[in-house]
Amino acid sequence: MTAKTVTLKYDGREYEFPVLYSTTGEGCIDISKLRAETGLTTLDPGFGNTASCVSKITYVNGEKGILRYRGIPIETVAEKMTFVETAWLLIYGRLPTMAEMKKFSSRLTNNELLHEGLLHHFDAFPPNGQPMSILSAVVNSLICYSPEIMDTTDEEAMRNAVAAIISKVRTIAAFSYRKAMGLPFVYPDPARSYCDNFLHMMFSIPNKSHQPTQEAVKALNLFLMLHADHEQNCSTSTVRIVGSAETNLFSSVASGICALWGKLHGGANVAVFEMLSRLAKGDETLDKFIERVKRKEVRLMGFGHRVYKTFDPRAKILKKAVFDLLEAERVADPLIDIALKLEEKALNDSYFKERNLYPNVDFYSGMILRALRIPLNMYTVMFAIGRMPGWIAHWRENNEDLRRLARPRQLYSGPVETPFVPLDLRPDEEL
Ligand code: CMC
Repeated sequence: MTAKTVTLKYDGREYEFPVLYSTTGEGCIDISKLRAETGLTTLDPGFGNTASCVSKITYVNGEKGILRYRGIPIETVAEKMTFVETAWLLIYGRLPTMAEMKKFSSRLTNNELLHEGLLHHFDAFPPNGQPMSILSAVVNSLICYSPEIMDTTDEEAMRNAVAAIISKVRTIAAFSYRKAMGLPFVYPDPARSYCDNFLHMMFSIPNKSHQPTQEAVKALNLFLMLHADHEQNCSTSTVRIVGSAETNLFSSVASGICALWGKLHGGANVAVFEMLSRLAKGDETLDKFIERVKRKEVRLMGFGHRVYKTFDPRAKILKKAVFDLLEAERVADPLIDIALKLEEKALNDSYFKERNLYPNVDFYSGMILRALRIPLNMYTVMFAIGRMPGWIAHWRENNEDLRRLARPRQLYSGPVETPFVPLDLRPDEEL
């Protein structure tokens, strides 16, 4: 690309700033010297116009509905890969060889157990404790039991830390469910694949080992792969910001779990289910609900996206997968009919058309989890297991690249200087 610049005219002077181009051709004004040269900062609430970093990991084109992991289209990932292979691709930057896959898989197996001391933590949580809260707390506590894994300065140590997180997060998630259900923990089975093993830890009972169908394992792989990364979203940006303070990998991803919890982000999959369940009761017609959405009394959960202004490609893949799984498992789900009708009504309504609101990843993802018998309070936990490779890849990239503390500016709007009044002289005012 030829070097282009933009000119800023301010206070009788002109300043030039370079325009950088992504490998896919999108322009980006480099304002890193803006404040030093002009004394100005920029205001961009929600960061909708701000590139916070340069990244090689994931490409999203929101206008065209394109998503690629390390250049590989999400449709190809979904069709040809497994979650473990996808994790390696995202973290290490290219497709693994057979030998690398074997080594990674055996590292995951070696890391699947939790320190027995850590199991007492689960006892300290009340029954029905929020699994997202348990997950973030226990992931953060891993370093107490193996402090050596905090040091990821050499590549071998980093590889072990990566495997520890990706493997143990699955065990922690399953154990938090078992605890909430009052069921004994089921230890991981080293002979099983990643997803098969998770379903085993969730659903096996003493003397009866759960054998998920091939379709169930495939659907879980798909769910996790589709959630594995999505460039600078809220939780990933959180992980990068926390990591920029040279916070260890484990605590950084634990902060990502907390950010993911919110219902405008990963928590949307729970909100979609709750919305569909309410509508299924029939107390309110779909038309009336849509009218309330248009009056902005409620949001149509699972619709809309900061980046996608067309179909989220993950939603398209998940929608088809839901039907495949329901058919293979020979189960029906009344919520799917509600979802289909709601989708159709919204896509044909001018409110949604004018604002480019389409189904996002969360609209159909809960249906897959429902078909897999994953309980509702685990939905966002499942998203977190899937997003772990993305968070790790971004933490690593951030640490290897600029190594600059993330520290945004603000446009201050408070009092310039407030006179101090001693406590006993302040007039009583009820708040
Ligand atoms: N239902 C109704 N109206 C909506 C919705 C929705 N789901 N999403 C956006 N709008 C309207 C919004 O009211 C605004 O209207 P107006 O221009 O009249 O003020 C316009 O569309 C633009 O919305 P916005 O809030 O400026 O868009 P945003 O980019 O800040 O929000 C979003 C993105 C995902 C937070 C939002 O679309 C939303 O709340 N969706 C529902 C929650 C959801 O499904 N979240 C999952 C996102 S994808 C997975 C993930 O990131 O974890």
